[in-house]
Parts: sequence; structure tokens; C-alpha cells
Amino acid sequence: MKRPRKVIVVGGGLGGLWSALRVAEAGFQVEIFSLFEVKRSHSVCAQGGINACFDTKGERDSVWQHIVDTLKGGAYLANQPPVKSMCEQAPGIIRTFERMGVTFSRTAEGLLDLRLFGGVKNRRTVFAGASTGQQLLYGVDQEIRRLESLGRVQKYEWWEFLSLVKDRQGTCKGIVAMNLRTMDVKHFRADAVILATGGMGQVFGHRSTNSTNSTGAAACRAYRQGAWLANTEFFQFHPTAMLGDDKTRLMSEAARGEGGRIWVPKNPQENRRAGDVPEQERFYFLEEWYPSYGNTVPRDVACRAIWKVVHEMGLGVSGENKVYLDLTHLNPGFIEHRLHAILDIYRKFHGADPVHEPMEIYPSAHYAMGGLWVDFEKDQSDGGLKPGSPRNHATNIPGLYACGECDYGYHGANRLGANSLLSASFSGRVAGEAVANYLKGLEDELLSVPERFYLDEVKRQQSINLNLTSSDGSENPYTLHRELGEIMSGQVGVVRDNAVLNTAIDSLQELEQRSHSVKLDASNEWSDQGLIYVRQLQEMIRLGAVIAGSALARDECRGAHFKPAFELPTPKDAYPGDPAYEAYRESWKKQNQTWLKTTVAEHSADGPRISFREIDLSVLPPEEPRDYR
Ligand code: FUM
Repeated sequence: MKRPRKVIVVGGGLGGLWSALRVAEAGFQVEIFSLFEVKRSHSVCAQGGINACFDTKGERDSVWQHIVDTLKGGAYLANQPPVKSMCEQAPGIIRTFERMGVTFSRTAEGLLDLRLFGGVKNRRTVFAGASTGQQLLYGVDQEIRRLESLGRVQKYEWWEFLSLVKDRQGTCKGIVAMNLRTMDVKHFRADAVILATGGMGQVFGHRSTNSTNSTGAAACRAYRQGAWLANTEFFQFHPTAMLGDDKTRLMSEAARGEGGRIWVPKNPQENRRAGDVPEQERFYFLEEWYPSYGNTVPRDVACRAIWKVVHEMGLGVSGENKVYLDLTHLNPGFIEHRLHAILDIYRKFHGADPVHEPMEIYPSAHYAMGGLWVDFEKDQSDGGLKPGSPRNHATNIPGLYACGECDYGYHGANRLGANSLLSASFSGRVAGEAVANYLKGLEDELLSVPERFYLDEVKRQQSINLNLTSSDGSENPYTLHRELGEIMSGQVGVVRDNAVLNTAIDSLQELEQRSHSVKLDASNEWSDQGLIYVRQLQEMIRLGAVIAGSALARDECRGAHFKPAFELPTPKDAYPGDPAYEAYRESWKKQNQTWLKTTVAEHSADGPRISFREIDLSVLPPEEPRDYR
């Protein structure tokens, strides 16, 4: 009798659970590996909502407009067929969540309620208060538990993915992972592996809204074994994070969607309490500079505006890196009802009440638009994704798939708020279906891969552990992480410059060297957090080098990647259609190899090797430059 086919899913967030669900429903065995209980995965932290066109507000919203907004928001750098299918299938995904028992916020008439989010003009964001990610994750988790009780899914919680195992042909046939309690390193065979390991915000240090587990280590390990990384230079800063010494925390874009206003005092010496600054002495810069979108411009635009106000105009509140996010003009009952979850976080960690005092916020590292490169197959009949194609979400390593934030697929150069819960769910579903069909086409038997392949990889990983635990170096890994954060946030952040990027790359090389001589103080062999952390830290430093290298290679301003030295004239100076402007743009395009291309980074002994790939622009011709005024 043939052994049943088995798939390993690494990561228990929305992408991972959705893919596991689809693979198991297709009749294959699934093993889920997660750093902790899957219900704690970072999807749980997503607050404001998930985009899907329902038009329950009668604003003539349309699926087409969702596609247009997403492509434009991403500065036309996403392959368009996957985006088209994602937006078309979004309402169906919400219906499925409802069938799973997710209780979305509703209007008095019982319709799905919708709120406004950035980069759009219509209310399109479905939400569950301000804890939408948690509600969605728990909904899918219930389904996974059902399959678990039937023996079709098995969970390995508190296990860390260390590496892939490939067969002679280079096809992925399993993983090596470490039990985070016992520190045992073991191999696991599989017919296919799906990485759904989330983001890498910790590369930017403690100034990130991401959980401490969002290190990107798994993606980096796959990269070092041959998987490509794409578009990593596009890292989203969320404009409205609350400050904090330990870390920054997300104050949802929903706050602006519900009417919150961003401002600074016009007088840089202002020393009154925010509430005492008269209206005419406040500078509502987003409303002034972008009157048609106001406070709900996309995140890249909002971050740069805050940057300008604070760093170029010197108007940061109290001379510091912060601006106000103000809800105090709104009805307290209304905001309590709609935003309770974030008000609670602010009260708890800042000690002030946003109902009565404007919040102090500043941009913070939030979301990786880039990630593992994944393929797709276009459906020639409708221009979207070909349903079930085994090419969808396949990395360049056969048998290895990626979905969720760890892939680069849907957001181009800048993600629109509330499209992440959507892309995580959609990509998980698509990846699961693709893998099921990949398995149907497989001929070889997994057990034919010699045991030696697995054991060699286990040994390699054990020796990495041993080298670290027996190091007699003196470096403190927490200090190194802090330094990494300083380099990345300061030199590879919202505004970039080639000379500064080169300095950052040199500093990262030095940091990597230092990370090999850390002091671990491993006094026990059980649950050695230090070892786990240092291994993750090394991957973060390497990812930092890929991000900085990709940013150096892209000499243009696009979405979240802003290099003022390469800025095109703004529409204020010249307009599309104007012959002089068009001639300038054409010559720019010719000399700029990155124009409307995906950046691909390949690992090599000398550092990331960067190249550029064409994008599928078959759905919507790019209209550049993007204009949100
Ligand atoms: O602002 C927010 O609620 C975050 C949502 C997102 O990143 O999509």
C-alpha cells in the first residue's frame, strides 16, 4: 500500500492555517510547525480589518475599484493577475469566515459594517471591532482543531524550523527543526513544504509593531539554501505607532478611518498641553497637503509627510520624533465602541486616555512587502490566477511553497491597510490548493530519499548550535540586536541615500562577524532561549544586508522606497501628458533598469546577488506618478 502523502506547513498564522486547511481537505496529511501555540501567531495582532467589496454603504464601490486601489497603492509593482483574483475573491473569503463563526461588526440593520482605510475613497474594510486579526485567526483555528481531532492534521507547537532538506535533484523533501523545550534537533520527511512564517519587523529592532517572533529567520534560512527573495527593499513603516521603550505598538489606521486627525502645533516652541492649543494654531498637514484623501492617504505617503514635518520643518511635538493622532473631537461612545481594543492598549502602555488627549505617535517598521519570491500561473481566459495551478505560490525550489507575509506576492511597493489579512488568507488558500495539485502530479516515493540526506542536515544544524554554545566570545546579542535596529531604522528607513546605504552594508557585515562571538551563558541544555535568539539574530542581520543591498540597487522613488536623489519632478512642477515631462520620464525609464521591475536577491558567498525581473502588467496600465492630492 502506498504511504499517504504528507505536507509540512511552517507557521500557524492565517496564511499557514488556511493552507493547512486546504491541503487536509484535499485528503493529504498535514503537519504544522509553529514557534508557539498557533493562536499566538502574529496575525492575532492585526487590528483594523480586512478589505472586501460589499458596498453596504451604497457608495458605488466595486471589485474593480478594489483592484485599482491595490495596484495604485502598491505603486504598480505587483504582478497584476494575483491581485485581480485576490480582490475578486475577497467577498467569498469573508463569507467563509462568517461560516466559520467569525462575528464581524454589523450595522443596526444587520449588514456587514464597513470602515474607511488608507488609499481608498470608499468604505471597504470589514472589521470585528479593532481586533479583527484575532477573530479571523481563531475562526480558522477552530477548523484546524476539527481536522486535528480527526487525525488529519498534527501540530508541532514550540518547534523552530532550522532548514530544508532537499533530495539529489534539489527538490524539497522535508525540514530539520528544533524542539524549543528540549533543544532536540530532528528531521521530518514531507512531500512538500509550505513556509508561512510571517514578517521580519524585528530586523528594524525594537522600533517595530511586530511581535518579537517576527524575525524573518525562516525565510532567510530558505534563502541561504537557494530560495530567492524579492522586493525586500520595500518595507512598510506604519505611520501611527505608539512610542515605547521596549517596543512600538500599532495604533490602527482604523483610528484615522473613523475620523482621527493627525497634526502638530504650528509653533515649534509650543509647550501647552495638546488640548489647549487653539484650532488655528494647529497644522493638519495631511489634510492641507492631500485634500482629497486627507488623513487616509496610503501609509508610504503619510510616513513621508510625518518625516518632513518632524525632520525638515522641525515641528515634531516638543521637539521630539512624534506627532499627534487626535480622536478627542469624536463622540466618546462611538470611538469606544469602534476602537476599544486599541484605546485599551494606549491606556495600558502610555497611561493616558485617547478619548481625552491626542495620542503621541510616530512611524514604525510594520510590514514586509517583499519576501520569498513565488511564481503564479495566469488564467488566459480571465486574466487572473489559474485556479489550482501547482505553479501558484511555488518558490524557485521545487516542492517548496510560500504564502502570507513571508512571500512577496500582492503588495508591490506599498501595501494598503487591511489588505494584509486578505492576502494572508487568500494566499494560504491558493498555496494549499497548488500544493494539493503538485502532490497529485508527484511520482516518486518519499521514502526513496536516502536517510543520509536527513541525518547530514541534522548534524550540520547540531554543529551550528555547538559552535555557538561553546563560543568564548564576549558580545551581548541583545546589544547587537539594538545596533541592528539602529542601523536599519536610521540608515535603511523611510528616507534613503546611496552613501548612507553603503555605510549600512559595511556596518552589517561587521555586525555579522561579531554575532559569531557572542557570550551565551548556556548553563542548561533545556529551553535555551539564548541560543535560539542568537540564531535568529544572525538571520536578521543577513536579511538586513539583503534589504540594504536591494535598496542600494534601486535608484528611484517608488512606494515605500524613497531616495530623494532620484525623485522625479512632482506633478506640481510638471504634469503627465506635458511633452517635456513625458520626454524626461522616457529617458529616465531607459537609463533605469529597475523601472517597473521586481528585485530578486539570490544568496551567494559574496553577499546577495541582485537582478531584476519583468512584472505582469496586463490588468491595469500604470498611471504614473501616483497622485493622492
Ligand atoms: O492599522 C491597522 O489596523 C493595520 C492593519 C494592517 O496592517 O493591514
